[in-house]
Amino acid sequence: MKVILDTDPGIDDALAFILLKAMPEVQLMGITVTHGNTTVDKCATNALQLVELLGMREIPVAVGASHPLIKELSIAEETHGGTGLGYAVLPKSTVTPASISAANLIIDLVSANPNEITLLCIGPVTNVALALLKEPGLASKIKNIVSMAGTIHHPGNATPSAEYNVFCDPHAFDILLHSGIDLTIVPLDVTYKCLFTKTHLARMASAKGSILNFIDRSTSFYMEFHSEYQGIEGCAINDPLAAAILVKPELVKFREYYVDVELRAEKTNAKLSADHFSALNRKPNAKVAMEVDVEGFMDFFIERVNAL
Ligand code: RIB
Ligand code: CA
Repeated sequence: MKVILDTDPGIDDALAFILLKAMPEVQLMGITVTHGNTTVDKCATNALQLVELLGMREIPVAVGASHPLIKELSIAEETHGGTGLGYAVLPKSTVTPASISAANLIIDLVSANPNEITLLCIGPVTNVALALLKEPGLASKIKNIVSMAGTIHHPGNATPSAEYNVFCDPHAFDILLHSGIDLTIVPLDVTYKCLFTKTHLARMASAKGSILNFIDRSTSFYMEFHSEYQGIEGCAINDPLAAAILVKPELVKFREYYVDVELRAEKTNAKLSADHFSALNRKPNAKVAMEVDVEGFMDFFIERVNAL
């Protein structure tokens, strides 16, 4: 399975990097970096350090959008820390970024592998939207998109009704929703059931030392955020769930909905609406993960990390 990872690392993004390394079923063709959890330059630094930590140096890392299509930039350093990786400290990377932009890497890789590449989007989708805007006809060459994004019934984590990735760039997500691309959405409804705790961390005892230390230091910060800001024990590992679904779709149950995103509201901007009863009589444009086998996912995540 050929995959491009579009990401804003970010603590849970970093856990998705680790899981992708532990999934040989996935051929990671490229990594494209976007603004989101922190600024794009910090996200790029984090991505380059992660590919070095994980022995993924051969995978091109392209730096992308520094800001959303229309909105002002949002960052979440209270959630992911000043570096974007919590308390974790990684060695300075010797990997240099690709010489082309994220949007151009997406265009080049998809054009060279028509109908073979899955885009795994675990941050704001500005890079993908820019690629679609720049390259007419690209949408028909993308096999499918799996996007950790949005929330259907679960409270928002960016506003009372909006999830952070969509909140950061709702106009970009609107482009994906109406692109005609086979779109899978992995919303907070399932990711907030996947709370990684110190008990789960203890089950990773046989993991490689440098990776285990990274997971411990990064998630310690992330758990503190969830406790202080959301009254939650543990931390929602949103992005690794989206990655896991690539190879184990049976971990979730999907519903097909016509989904739209609010772009003109004041209080509920960036909210997703899923047409449960087909009231609009519109063809579904997304497969939405609405139930998850939490224990099955956690077991998968822990087993794969321990086997790294
Ligand atoms: O709302 C959760 C999403 O926003 C995750 O992808 C997290 O990394 C942030 O990007
Ligand atoms: Ca992310």
